Amino acid sequence: MPNERRDNAGTSGPRQEHTPEQLLRIIFEYTAKIAHERSLDSVLLLMADMGREMILADRCTVWLIDQTRGELFTKVAHGVEHIRIPLGSGFVGHAITAGEPLLVEDAYADPRHNADNDRKTGYHTKSVITVPFVGSDGSIIGAYQAINKQTEDAQFTSADLERLVLAASYAGKSLESVMLHEEIAATQRDIIFAIGEIGENRSKETGNHVKRVAEYSYILAKGYGLSEEEAEQLKIASPMHDIGKIAIPDAVLLKPGKLSEAEYELMKEHTEIGYTLLRTSGRALLNIAATIAYQHHEKWDGTGYPRGLRGEEIHLYGRITAIADVFDALASDRVYKKAWELGRILALFQEERGRHFDPQLVDVFFQSLPTILDIRDRYND
Ligand SMILES: [Fe+2]
Ligand SMILES: [Fe+2]
Repeated sequence: MPNERRDNAGTSGPRQEHTPEQLLRIIFEYTAKIAHERSLDSVLLLMADMGREMILADRCTVWLIDQTRGELFTKVAHGVEHIRIPLGSGFVGHAITAGEPLLVEDAYADPRHNADNDRKTGYHTKSVITVPFVGSDGSIIGAYQAINKQTEDAQFTSADLERLVLAASYAGKSLESVMLHEEIAATQRDIIFAIGEIGENRSKETGNHVKRVAEYSYILAKGYGLSEEEAEQLKIASPMHDIGKIAIPDAVLLKPGKLSEAEYELMKEHTEIGYTLLRTSGRALLNIAATIAYQHHEKWDGTGYPRGLRGEEIHLYGRITAIADVFDALASDRVYKKAWELGRILALFQEERGRHFDPQLVDVFFQSLPTILDIRDRYND
């Protein structure tokens, strides 16, 4: 942003109204940035900045409706989790319920004002504007709220209200599409997770196995140097590693004793079945899951199954999930065995470094051990 605006922002000195050119520049700059954003939190912050700059507000917030929880939520700063308030509270709640913009000159003279926040922070709210966002189906999805004008008289005008309505209409479409994108991604994650649990439940794995394998895989991926995004994808996809077990007959899957040669051969097929189930979709995330299902029983020295791949022929995701899965199997109680003691597990991992497991990943595993043990305790069965 141009410096003259940044320098003034947040200081107590009064500011001058923008010229029409300045206003246009603000709109162009922000709408271009917002259109390229994929993260909902970033869009909320950028939209709040845009509104604040356009009308010289001291504070500006974009609130969204969470219908299931009956709340409004927003993001106010990087690193801070969402702030939540009851759906109908304060001016913003009122604007959303009424579906109309609101301009209040003196908040304290208005019974709708919720002064709790002022009391907590020592801030004094004077003038307030709220503008609802309308989605493409006509329903209200959230609202702008701007507080205290930074000009001499600290008073918002009807021109400010119109500008904020403009900001809402420019940014509303981007906001909606990012929300939709997040909704789809979240649904996808939930479904994938549920599918993973089906695979594990059929083989009577412990309840949190899937969750822990996901978390371990994420930690190992990060420790190996993968990006946040890749680690996150692996975390979502790794719970499906045993999905192929849905096609293994109960007589084999749930057999209490040792499997016969033929039964073991049948059991091994869960890798290929999982791969076949998942790869057809063509979606990036499911492709990753397909690879993991296929390769999580391969071993670094080439003695694994189904294909006997060795070393880096095994996809990194397969190598990571192998460690996560084996560690969890050993570290948890199962119907047929007690959990191993940690020392015994670590000795095995050291022994299998370069045999069952990728040696570099075993090193990452040992470096990340405190975090891994923390996850084990947090998602205890
Ligand atoms: Fe498996
Ligand atoms: Fe597993």
